[in-house]
Amino acid sequence: MNVLELAQKRCSIRKYLSTPVEKDKIDYILEVARMAPSAVNYQPWYFLMIDEDVARQKLHECYPREWFRQAPLYIVVCGDHSESWKRPTDNKDHLDIDAGIVTEHICLAAAEKDLGTCIVCHFDAALLHKNFNLPETVEAMAIIPVGYPAEPDLFDKTPKKRKSIEEIIRYNAF
Ligand SMILES: Cc1cc2nc3c(=O)[nH]c(=O)nc-3n(C[C@H](O)[C@H](O)[C@H](O)COP(=O)(O)O)c2cc1C
Repeated sequence: MNVLELAQKRCSIRKYLSTPVEKDKIDYILEVARMAPSAVNYQPWYFLMIDEDVARQKLHECYPREWFRQAPLYIVVCGDHSESWKRPTDNKDHLDIDAGIVTEHICLAAAEKDLGTCIVCHFDAALLHKNFNLPETVEAMAIIPVGYPAEPDLFDKTPKKRKSIEEIIRYNAF
């Protein structure tokens, strides 16, 4: 599968089987995450793996949606503001960009292994911070449920709604 085919395959899956994710697949996904680029190569990320009942419950409180309860595994992508690069000219913190890149690495790696994911950011960040005792400088950037899609053809039948190339490309001037 080439990169375009993988990008076309990955989609937001919101129906999961409870089947556990095999350890070799989790290891593969985390290795792909580890290879992600980051500003000045600071790698300001941590991955909080959630697969036990008490922790799952604490996570579900932060994003109380029925579909979100189904996945066997969740990866909370965390970023440490004290480790991320700030651009000297304007002090812009690049943590969001680093976290976005590593999040998509995870989702693509999972899709390659036929695992569904959905990037979730609409959670109660303050509650998550409290529930998992995150250090003060650490922010939960995204929650990624990971699991096999409940229907085998979900990868194929989830529509890819995207703007056309003409709408999004500008050459040489905006
Ligand atoms: C930064 C970000 C935040 C998102 N947050 C949520 C979310 O909180 N809940 C949700 O169901 N989907 C969320 N999504 C999934 C998007 O709705 C989805 O990626 C988009 O509609 C495109 O669909 P696709 O992923 O199937 O290609 C998020 C995606 C991104 C990139």
